[in-house]
Amino acid sequence: MAEAAILVALKLLGQALATEIVRLASSHASEIALTMSDLEARMNNITIELRVMQSLLDQMDIHDQSNKTMVTWLLEVQKAADRIKDIGDEFIHLVGHEKFGKRFYMKNLFKEPKSLIASKQIASQLETAEKSLKLLGELKERWVSVTRAEPGSSTNNADQHPVQEPVTAYFTDEPDIIGIDENREKLTNLINSKEPHLSLISVWGMGGIGKTTLVTSVFDREKEHFSCHAWIRIGQAYKPDGIIRNLISEICSNGQSTQIKTDHMDLRGLKETLRRFLQQTKYLIVLDDAWDQNSYQRICDVFADGQQGSRIIITTRNADVASLARESNRLGLTPLPVKESWKIFSNKAFQFEQNHVCPPPLVELAKHIVSKCNGLPLALVCLESLLCGKTESEWKRVHDQLPWELENNTTLHRLKNVLKLSFNYFPKHLKQCFLYCCMFPEDYLFARKKLLRLWIAEGFVEQIGGSTLEETAEGYLSELINHSMLRVMKKNYFGRVKKCQIHDTFRMLATSLCMKDNFCLLYEGEFINSDICVRRLSVIKSGNNIVYQVPLQKLRTLMTFDHSMMDSSLLTQDIPKLTYLTVLSLENLSIDSVPHNIGNLFNLHYLGLRNTKVKLLPDSIEKLHDLQTLDLMGSEICKLPDGIVKLKKLRHLFAEVLIDSAFKLFPSRSGIYAPKGPFYLKDLQTLKAVESNSMVVEELGNLTQLRSLRIWNVKENDSTGLCRSLSRMNSLSKLAINSSHENELLQLENLNLPQIQKLILNAQLKENMLESPLFQTSGKGIHELWLGWSQLQNDPLPTLSHLKNLTFLALQKAYQGQRLIFKAGWFPKLKILVLRHMPNLIQVEIEQGTMVSLEQIMFQELNKLMEFPKGIQHLMNLKWLICKDMYFGGLENKGTHKIYHFNCQVV
Ligand SMILES: *[C@@H]1O[C@H](CO)[C@@H](O)[C@H](O)[C@H]1NC(C)=O
Ligand SMILES: *[C@@H]1O[C@H](CO)[C@@H](O)[C@H](O)[C@H]1NC(C)=O
Ligand SMILES: *[C@@H]1O[C@H](CO)[C@@H](O)[C@H](O)[C@H]1NC(C)=O
Ligand SMILES: *[C@@H]1O[C@H](CO)[C@@H](O)[C@H](O)[C@H]1NC(C)=O
Ligand SMILES: *[C@@H]1O[C@H](CO)[C@@H](O)[C@H](O)[C@H]1NC(C)=O
Ligand SMILES: *[C@@H]1O[C@H](CO)[C@@H](O)[C@H](O)[C@H]1NC(C)=O
Ligand SMILES: *[C@@H]1O[C@H](CO)[C@@H](O)[C@H](O)[C@H]1NC(C)=O
Ligand SMILES: *[C@@H]1O[C@H](CO)[C@@H](O)[C@H](O)[C@H]1NC(C)=O
Repeated sequence: MAEAAILVALKLLGQALATEIVRLASSHASEIALTMSDLEARMNNITIELRVMQSLLDQMDIHDQSNKTMVTWLLEVQKAADRIKDIGDEFIHLVGHEKFGKRFYMKNLFKEPKSLIASKQIASQLETAEKSLKLLGELKERWVSVTRAEPGSSTNNADQHPVQEPVTAYFTDEPDIIGIDENREKLTNLINSKEPHLSLISVWGMGGIGKTTLVTSVFDREKEHFSCHAWIRIGQAYKPDGIIRNLISEICSNGQSTQIKTDHMDLRGLKETLRRFLQQTKYLIVLDDAWDQNSYQRICDVFADGQQGSRIIITTRNADVASLARESNRLGLTPLPVKESWKIFSNKAFQFEQNHVCPPPLVELAKHIVSKCNGLPLALVCLESLLCGKTESEWKRVHDQLPWELENNTTLHRLKNVLKLSFNYFPKHLKQCFLYCCMFPEDYLFARKKLLRLWIAEGFVEQIGGSTLEETAEGYLSELINHSMLRVMKKNYFGRVKKCQIHDTFRMLATSLCMKDNFCLLYEGEFINSDICVRRLSVIKSGNNIVYQVPLQKLRTLMTFDHSMMDSSLLTQDIPKLTYLTVLSLENLSIDSVPHNIGNLFNLHYLGLRNTKVKLLPDSIEKLHDLQTLDLMGSEICKLPDGIVKLKKLRHLFAEVLIDSAFKLFPSRSGIYAPKGPFYLKDLQTLKAVESNSMVVEELGNLTQLRSLRIWNVKENDSTGLCRSLSRMNSLSKLAINSSHENELLQLENLNLPQIQKLILNAQLKENMLESPLFQTSGKGIHELWLGWSQLQNDPLPTLSHLKNLTFLALQKAYQGQRLIFKAGWFPKLKILVLRHMPNLIQVEIEQGTMVSLEQIMFQELNKLMEFPKGIQHLMNLKWLICKDMYFGGLENKGTHKIYHFNCQVV
């Protein structure tokens, strides 16, 4: 990781050198000016040293990285680079502050004796750093020789072109992954057999052999034939009640309902509930990656056998676990035969060649490489994405390093070695992003945007051209997914990645690399004792208190995942002392305050207090000049300190108090009260959510970078002003406007939102609103639309049908009329339709050829809709019809839920 550390240090030096003060210093003759120009010269020299070192490391071979002398040297280089980053941070803190950025304030800086002392200190630290770099250079000459790469070979090309050529991902929803056809057929037959009794099927084999890929592909196809289905990962650290809870929520979420409240149930209650539910249905449940028999036996009593042909599939590495299934129901996966391996490999590695045929000069190399993979799909995938589109000399380089790593090693080790090799060839900018993912607990589901914000806060993301950091980071994520390092677990309605997960074999690898490279420390409940300065600490399991004896004063990142951690001295006393802290995430902890002097953390970029019980932010928060993300969503904070307006680098602000999670009450949430006076946060991209008033509405117009805005409590008088302000936000893609009262009429006819994708309007609307330019022209790109309490008299559908790209449409109290007709050709991409709470509606008609992609309908509280929608049989892709509080056919099911699953239950 030395390369990555150098990259970060260089970036920071670049920033430091670009501060205005450095330019201005030269024109002054005072002592501080002299110190400043000295600082500048030193930083320039260090930059040069680091650059040279960087290009040296670029030429290193994997062999070198396993040589003890080299490894020790690299670790020292990494430490030196980290130290330089610290100094850069301090320098920017001293001068980068806006207060000092202007000529006018230079005098102040020069007068303050404190600044002079601080800059002298920095100068002397720089001197030390420069010396240690020189020393490292000499040490290298004396002890370490770097293998020169052959001229012309440029493995690190990727760094000059951060966006890699596309490589198809292994874990995507690809219809045919060659090599598993036969097993897929076997598994499908076992699932669909005529056997009415519940049966258990086991799929087993070593890590990386493709169990999960096989089961996923079958599950995705066959789940349609079951009334309910769930996919649960067991993993090593399972807890029975956690698994049961997950099962319940998974089963419920398939029907988009939340009818089973499990919060206060104990294990017995949970089991009883689930058992009763399963007894009546035909279910398909996958238990992925069970480590021992116990993990199944402790929950298996919930799997009731209603004799409807239910199936459970368990995947495991352990033959013992596999033996839980009858012999005929066991499916053991073995490594792929050479021929199949070759097919998989050449299909992707040579995807740019004609017919995917291996070019003759590479045949020998390629065959050799494939044989080294020992038929492990994961290894093949790793190498093929590594080699795809590379030159012959690069192939040779990889090939030459393989035998040394792989021969005469066990299969798991082989896999690990292949992954490691592949990791070594990763572009530098991806390495740290990847390692970062192992700071989260096993099986953690990353929310895409949050992960991107964290990478940015850590400084991993380069500014490239006119793209925002978020856009660049998005490219990194896509590269990691394409390298199969992360797999996509959930997509939103229009196909964008929402949640992803790190493959567990990769996490294992990353964890060992992290430890080795001193990238981060994972605290999992054991006492830790080390004299190495820790930079990142992730508390996975603490048991309330964390006991440690490691130097933390240089800590940059602190994340917690154990909700029971509360009174730890780390939280109560130590945090304000961790002055370099860049990322602090205390999400989900039930703490009710943060230290009043949190403002001491001058370097903080990310402060996450989501779902905590914190009620107030201390005033010192205004000193966090570098803060980029402030996440207070779901905390008890409803007002921000006025000093928040000084946080000029803020990009994302989340703060919202939940009132009604079902969105039935009006309002269902409330935003945060904005500070008094102007708030000009020019970089702000996300503001979720703010309480409106006429001042706020005016001020919003200054936030021209906003991508996502949610505003509550808008009054009619302010609606025109709001439209004016919104029209200045040229990048706005998500917007939610909520009026102050359910009968408050908002005049939004002048809304003009060219980039809008997701729009939520909860307010009474004028009848002509839907004829406004927004719905006719500028908003044609809308994917998701929610109209609540609009109370329109005219049928909204004919006008809305112009929105051809709509994938989600919800109408809640939106229409006062009696009939809704969906005409042929309308809403071709719509996947989800929600109709709620329309008291006069008596008829819904669905013509043939309308909503051809529709998968799910939800009806709720349509009290006069007695008849089933006419023509619903035309919806060929419909999978779910959810009825909540409905009176169809005179049958009252108030307060309960009925889920009709089309392919299996005749309604
Ligand atoms: C920077 O390097 C140059 C050339 O090696 C040297 O002459 C100069 O003294 C160095 N500057 C500082 C401040 O160390
Ligand atoms: C490690 O590298 C040094 C210098 O390049 C070399 O002298 C030494 O023999 C290497 N050690 C091993 C075990 O390869
Ligand atoms: C692997 O083992 C075989 C047989 O034991 C031996 O001949 C060969 O040299 C070994 N290869 C390496 C690279 O150690
Ligand atoms: C196999 O690889 C592992 C992991 O790199 C290594 O620790 C082990 O010593 C290797 N074993 C042999 C026999 O080469
Ligand atoms: C990743 O793969 C997808 C699909 O093959 C492609 O569209 C995308 O551009 C790739 N992204 C990167 C960063 O390589
Ligand atoms: C906090 O809790 C939510 C809901 O249980 C969960 O989705 C999220 O991953 C948790 N976050 C952390 C950092 O543990
Ligand atoms: C912010 O908006 C107000 C009202 O529209 C305006 O008077 C002020 O000049 C704006 N400030 C900046 C910095 O643009
Ligand atoms: C609708 O979606 C398609 C495909 O995603 C896109 O090409 C088109 O530009 C979109 N239309 C509008 C008006 O945004």
